[in-house]
Amino acid sequence: MMIELTRLALPVIQAPMAGGITTPQLVAAVANHGGVGSFGFAYSSPEKIQADLAAAQALTRGFINANFFIFNPVRLPNDSVQASALAALRCLDLDDAQVFTIPTAPFYPHLIDQLEPVWKARPAMLSFHFGLPPHGIIAQAHALGISVGVTATSLSEALAIQVAGANFIIAQGIEAGGHRGQFDWQAKDEELSTRELTTLLIKKCRIPIVAAGGIMNGSDIQALLTRGATAAQLGTAFLCCEESGTAPSYQHYLLTQQDRPTVMTKAFSGRYARGLENSFTRFMQDQTTLPFPIQNTLTGPLRQWATASNDAEFQSLWAGTAYAHIRSMSTGDLMQQLRSEIEAAKRA
Ligand SMILES: Cc1cc2nc3c(=O)[nH]c(=O)nc-3n(C[C@H](O)[C@H](O)[C@H](O)COP(=O)(O)O)c2cc1C
Repeated sequence: MMIELTRLALPVIQAPMAGGITTPQLVAAVANHGGVGSFGFAYSSPEKIQADLAAAQALTRGFINANFFIFNPVRLPNDSVQASALAALRCLDLDDAQVFTIPTAPFYPHLIDQLEPVWKARPAMLSFHFGLPPHGIIAQAHALGISVGVTATSLSEALAIQVAGANFIIAQGIEAGGHRGQFDWQAKDEELSTRELTTLLIKKCRIPIVAAGGIMNGSDIQALLTRGATAAQLGTAFLCCEESGTAPSYQHYLLTQQDRPTVMTKAFSGRYARGLENSFTRFMQDQTTLPFPIQNTLTGPLRQWATASNDAEFQSLWAGTAYAHIRSMSTGDLMQQLRSEIEAAKRA
């Protein structure tokens, strides 16, 4: 039977977060506390997807979501653009700057291959970021009892998601950490807040709306549920949980550098994403970047080096605008706190 978001014991979806953050332990702990635990499988191989789903399913019988990016066909730009994108990174003066090379095709994993292990493991939910999945995928999910959600940043995207037959829409406000889920990143961004977008979509759409962006506690969640949201999707709030795969230096910045602004940057991946400002985002402001996700592959060695050397100035520190309210505790404790805060907000 297909999951109905209205019947979640706790209307909380732990956001998918690609890049090793959403471990099976994190996902299972959220699911075991009545929410939905999500994997960010955007860049994962089918083997990794299969292993992670099996590991989480061994730890929980609760609701699991598998999330993927909708990559658009992309080509390398001309030689001079490539040279200047490469030169920008090489002048960073790292120990081994020659480690940067222009990526070659294929530039991203093949969605149909990535979905194979999903059809076998049948998690409760499947969600997509950056656009609609290819024709037939939503019907295939439904035939297996899997509910489908897609991120929207505007009313027009939400209406397209509804027409495509998805079960729910994730309304991503401008406060959200990580990649902006706009279908066409070069189109004008309406930059609606989570509250504005959620309210608009509840009014204009017929399917459940999940609010995402800047939601850090039970009172934030209850405020959106009162407006008619069916659930809330929280990413940043889970980054410092014991079970999350967030690098220690990244967590340290989130917990101790709370005067830092967050910025929208395409320096790391070639598409806009929100994270803490650091030396790399500042340095890259006027530099050439390659298209998404080629820039992501190009900067991979930099991010790996920075993580291994505990240098958060050159890591992508994705976080929403409300990150200063982050809590460092076990996932189970955070879920319990969210539950009691929601109850307290209902009584207030
Ligand atoms: C570290 C990080 C990684 C993210 N990666 C993904 C992803 O792989 N897929 C996705 O749909 N959303 C991703 N997001 C966006 C979340 O789904 C969600 O919109 C966002 O976390 C909500 O804002 P908040 O971080 O303020 O809670 C990511 C967010 C963060 C913070």
